[in-house]
Amino acid sequence: MPAITGSAPGKIILFGEHAVVYGRPALAVPVNQVQAKVSVFAAPGAEPGQVIIDAPGIGLKTGLERLPQDHPLVLAVLGVMNHLSLSRLPACTLRITSTIPIAAGLGSGAAVSVAIARALSSFLGKPLNDENVNEIAFAVDQAHHGTPSGVDNTVITYNQPVYFVRGQPFERLPVKYPFTLVIGNTGVHSATAAVVSEVRRRWQSDPNRYEALFDRIADLSRQARQVIEQGHPPDLGPLMNANHALLIETGVSSAELDRLVDAARAAGALGAKLCGAGWGGNMIALVEPGSADRIVDALKNAGAVNT
Ligand code: PMV
Repeated sequence: MPAITGSAPGKIILFGEHAVVYGRPALAVPVNQVQAKVSVFAAPGAEPGQVIIDAPGIGLKTGLERLPQDHPLVLAVLGVMNHLSLSRLPACTLRITSTIPIAAGLGSGAAVSVAIARALSSFLGKPLNDENVNEIAFAVDQAHHGTPSGVDNTVITYNQPVYFVRGQPFERLPVKYPFTLVIGNTGVHSATAAVVSEVRRRWQSDPNRYEALFDRIADLSRQARQVIEQGHPPDLGPLMNANHALLIETGVSSAELDRLVDAARAAGALGAKLCGAGWGGNMIALVEPGSADRIVDALKNAGAVNT
């Protein structure tokens, strides 16, 4: 029997990270240049119920039962079984590969969950719809981040630009004119859960200040939505710069992120900001299409490990 595969893109948050956890809107787009892919093979010789995880990129090859019960891969598989009301799986191997950098704000964890849900449910002959796939990926994130907004799993599952408010059905974000972004990776791994919980700690100790910051970020997200849907893409540049400044105030930037953001602007980017949780991971720069190579060079000279 041939392998059944499922895949999912990476993502970037254009505007509104962190504020989105507190009910403000965020804008996010899929990044199809990077993908997580899961192939499921039958293992006829193996014992019924035996599920092998083979993830060569992270050096993991093991039986699913040997992983902790709260491991994201275990939760994704259990999520599929629950949705399909199965108590046991046929013996199989899940081969997981991904070109999405890990712990870098590009949604690698959610993309793997989505790819598992798609591949495994198809392998079982009952492909889950996007709504169910999205629920599974959200539940995995909840077990790991505590309070995820749901923006990552949503943009990755539906693979389209979204205007997202926590707890509400997402809205599609029609893009009137295409625009070009360069993504720069600091190479610094950053665990979303740690950054999100530090922001929560600060918000609890000074709610007025953080509520005001999130309101200002929300304003930028709404303005950016208008520009993307109706306007002139270069107008996003100043909004990105303003969002980055507010993320610095929120305490989630880092020296490496600021260095890349500054380098992109100095090389002529129209705007730049960190994207995702911060403290590391990636930043984005809005560029004129013809100047992308120059910005890429500037980011590499400023220490980006890839772009
Ligand atoms: O670091 P990422 O890409 O997982 O982004 C997290 C985005 C936050 O707004 C910081 C958290 C969330 O759940 O929305």
